[in-house]
Amino acid sequence: MIKTRITEMLGIDHPVVQGGMQWVGRAELAAAVSNAGGLGILTALTQPTPEALGKEIARCRDMTDKPFAVNLTILPTIKPVPYEEYAQAIVDSDVKTVETAGRNPEPFLPLFKSAGIKVIHKCTSIRHSLKAERIGCDAVSVDGFECAGHPGEDDVTNLILLPLAAQRLKIPFIASGGLGDGRGLAAALALGADGINMGTRFMVTEEAPIHEKVKRAMVDASELDTALIYRSLNNTARVFKNSIAEQVLQIESQPGATKFEDIQPLVQGAKGKELFEEGDLDRGIWSAGMVVGLINDIPSCAELVQRIVADAEEIINERLAKVVQA
Ligand SMILES: Cc1cc2nc3c(=O)[nH]c(=O)nc-3n(C[C@H](O)[C@H](O)[C@H](O)COP(=O)(O)O)c2cc1C
Repeated sequence: MIKTRITEMLGIDHPVVQGGMQWVGRAELAAAVSNAGGLGILTALTQPTPEALGKEIARCRDMTDKPFAVNLTILPTIKPVPYEEYAQAIVDSDVKTVETAGRNPEPFLPLFKSAGIKVIHKCTSIRHSLKAERIGCDAVSVDGFECAGHPGEDDVTNLILLPLAAQRLKIPFIASGGLGDGRGLAAALALGADGINMGTRFMVTEEAPIHEKVKRAMVDASELDTALIYRSLNNTARVFKNSIAEQVLQIESQPGATKFEDIQPLVQGAKGKELFEEGDLDRGIWSAGMVVGLINDIPSCAELVQRIVADAEEIINERLAKVVQA
């Protein structure tokens, strides 16, 4: 068993967290990860309303009696989102842990803290991690440049970010981005992290509620099959390199400032949702990390978590121990 400050804080068996994922973080996946001894996370904004989120939390609770969390991603959106009402739905549903991301979570902390909720803030830089610690977050997830979704604009990989976090943070932290196997878990622990957070790897599991064709495409992909879009808009996102991502890059490479209106029809969230439901791989865009290059199968979450933990234990107890004795 690998015990860390994160397994203690969250009451989980293994230091393995499933990051919030739009359209993917539903009860089926979150419950499967939690039943496997990790921390499953529902994604609040995947649900159309705060009431629907309350129902999804109840559905997840029917599927697992283990702890699970809810991700609240606070990003500027075209259509206003009632974030406060989503936050209240989380509190009302007696969830014990929240993953925040996208923006400074400070306005939501009094509500979450007064309900005794642990807040893990996900951020992509040391300065934001330190800020999260200062404002009272209980832990941070440090998302390196390898990650799926929004890696920020600093382009610092986890080999640098994690040791810096270990040097500077007092609160526990979770390594996020580019992690998918036991080597990754052992390395993250060696770099000072208290656990790992995975998005892309958990998408390619039996229980992830997305079309089999999307999972197969990710099994077939290499580490070169992601693209960084929205760089010209200062809002970089790492996505799977399909024909739509290539069209977006083409538009962004045109001289002059990129106008979001030119890209918007290609990247609408609704199209990404349809892509996941129907398996039409060029319907829209979807977030994916460089770790796709390490993914070769579609296991159940239980198999995956067991394999990652067993491999990490073997590396730490056998391979590394022998290296030290040599
Ligand atoms: C399909 C997909 C959707 C995601 N959606 C969100 C989201 O809505 N909010 C969020 O905070 N992170 C989101 N992420 C990021 C993950 O929570 C996690 O930080 C990231 O995947 C870690 O990098 P990895 O994919 O290399 O494991 C998403 C990732 C994926 C793959």
